[in-house]
Amino acid sequence: MPTWSKNSSHKSNPDMTTTLPIATRIEAAVAHIPGWSPIDQLLTLFTLAYASADLPGDILELGSWCGRSAVALGMAAQITGHTKIHCVDLFPEKNDWYRNADGTYSFAVNINGRMVGAYGEQTVWAEPYERDIAPVYQRYAGILEAFNATIAANGLTAQVTPVKGDLTSFAASVAPGFSLRMAFIDGDHSYEAVSKDIAIVERFLVPGGWICFDDAFSTYAGVDQAITEYVIDSGRYHLCQQLTRKLFVARFSG
Ligand SMILES: C[S@@+](CC[C@H](N)C(=O)[O-])C[C@H]1O[C@@H](n2cnc3c(N)ncnc32)[C@H](O)[C@@H]1O
Repeated sequence: MPTWSKNSSHKSNPDMTTTLPIATRIEAAVAHIPGWSPIDQLLTLFTLAYASADLPGDILELGSWCGRSAVALGMAAQITGHTKIHCVDLFPEKNDWYRNADGTYSFAVNINGRMVGAYGEQTVWAEPYERDIAPVYQRYAGILEAFNATIAANGLTAQVTPVKGDLTSFAASVAPGFSLRMAFIDGDHSYEAVSKDIAIVERFLVPGGWICFDDAFSTYAGVDQAITEYVIDSGRYHLCQQLTRKLFVARFSG
């Protein structure tokens, strides 16, 4: 009998949390969290965060909204035990939103005296705004409050930290030596914004670390162009792959 098979005869009594499928747990946890990340994408994010736990560095999420994807990443951090999830978002309040001349919506948030706009290029149509966004403000004072409620309800406050700002303000605030083993980009979907986000993430990503993009190669031409130019064609990444309908991942070569 090869030595590696010895454990197969070992009898143990794993607790329920070890044997309950993570897919089931994620599905239950996010059932009532507003947002747009589908279950297959959440399970994929969990798996990357879980399987890369032996790399140094923390995990960054850019674009958290009410916390759907943060819960999946936070669960991985809780199980693996040693990673922080930094959730960077402008966390807009109701009054930060404004209606454009064509009836669509955008918002701008004051970050340390600097106005940071979002959805200026890819504006939000009135119908999804009224259906998906306005109701959150009827329940919560703002998106940060909704996010905090999600994280507390799932027992993840030790793992998940919200940071109100954009990547520029976040990068300016981190301690020397800060590094990332995984980054999930789901903020502003314009070409300029995603290109800039990739450049900032690369300053902190460790060799072998993962960069992941929501809404890739599905709907947003700017997201696709930025990924193509600065990830796929850059020569700095390998294992570039679309993993689900809208989640693209790549491994940083350093
Ligand atoms: C699609 S939502 C994120 C959804 C979330 N990942 C989920 O699973 O439900 C995009 C988020 O990006 C944020 N955002 C947009 N532009 C941003 C920017 N420049 N910096 C930081 N956050 C931004 C918005 O406030 C919004 O919460």
